[in-house]
Amino acid sequence: MTNTLERKIKVENNPSIFPKNQWYVIALSKELKQNMIARKVLNIPLIIFRDEHGQVQALEDRCCHRGMPLSCGTLENGRVRCGYHGLLYDGTGQCVEVPGQDKIPSKAKVKAYTVVEKQGLVWLWYSFGQEIADIEPPDYPYHDHPDYLYDGDVYHYQAPYQLIHDNLMDLSHLAYVHLKTIGGNAKIHMNAEMKVTQNDDQVVVKRHMINSEPPPTYSMAYPFTGKIDRWQEIDFRVSHIRIWTGAINAGTDSLDNPDRDGFNMRGFHAITPETEDTCHYFWTMSTNPQIDRENIANVVIEQTRLTFDEDKVVIENQYKNLKQFENSEMVGIHIDVGLVRARRMVEQLI
Ligand code: FES
Ligand SMILES: [Fe+2]
Repeated sequence: MTNTLERKIKVENNPSIFPKNQWYVIALSKELKQNMIARKVLNIPLIIFRDEHGQVQALEDRCCHRGMPLSCGTLENGRVRCGYHGLLYDGTGQCVEVPGQDKIPSKAKVKAYTVVEKQGLVWLWYSFGQEIADIEPPDYPYHDHPDYLYDGDVYHYQAPYQLIHDNLMDLSHLAYVHLKTIGGNAKIHMNAEMKVTQNDDQVVVKRHMINSEPPPTYSMAYPFTGKIDRWQEIDFRVSHIRIWTGAINAGTDSLDNPDRDGFNMRGFHAITPETEDTCHYFWTMSTNPQIDRENIANVVIEQTRLTFDEDKVVIENQYKNLKQFENSEMVGIHIDVGLVRARRMVEQLI
């Protein structure tokens, strides 16, 4: 862990302590209806809402008059009314009404951020200096794929975002943390054949568990006839992680076939820092049931939720303890390869 002095130097030399020039998820589309969300992301207090055209907007949460949080005001037909003296702002952050005064001061506006809603996710372009994004937000096809059904949620974590990266890059913990759902035999998890590859902006970890017992969630969701060949493929990018897990009946296909059949769970995990010590974890689970689709998808998503609840307890406890033993070292073991590379990538970007 970085000590306080190192941190201070880093902050002074670099206004961002988070990787910049990236798209980050700041909301799930389903969170935004007739409401306004107050959410701090990347140390920026924001309000997120739909404007009068239904388009998602994100403004800094500060009225330009006397600094009141705009989130204490109200959303009026896609415009935000400050709850102190009633200034009204449109989706671009421009003040469009000052009650009792005809002329609107030219400086009466608040900062608006570049946001794009795509495939059920709201992405914010985070940069310093380069306000306009020159790349599209990432594409996530499983949110509008005919074979898949999905749902998800957002969790607030009292822990830094990189501890969640660590957790997701190391799926051997399934054997100890998630025994009741997607776990399975500890020995098989710890000894799974693992390949780690990397390019400029991705770290990919592939783990295969051949001829293993189906865990409870798998048996419930798919009519496996006996043992299974199981895979876990983790695709790490700085702003989010994709985890494709699943299984086929043992020996019926190659785990290198990208179109292999069987039971698939495609997890999307966007972990957006709130502050240095806290974060928002946006997750979705997409799955491809063959029969009784809605029902089975619901069960898979609910079981996913249970496993993520289990992770939250572990990670928040881990962070509490890391703070109690701030100067202690962590000892690496074989399963840490993926997380070490992911941390290195984030470190280089910062
Ligand atoms: S502080 Fe917002 S209108 Fe005065
Ligand atoms: Fe987990």
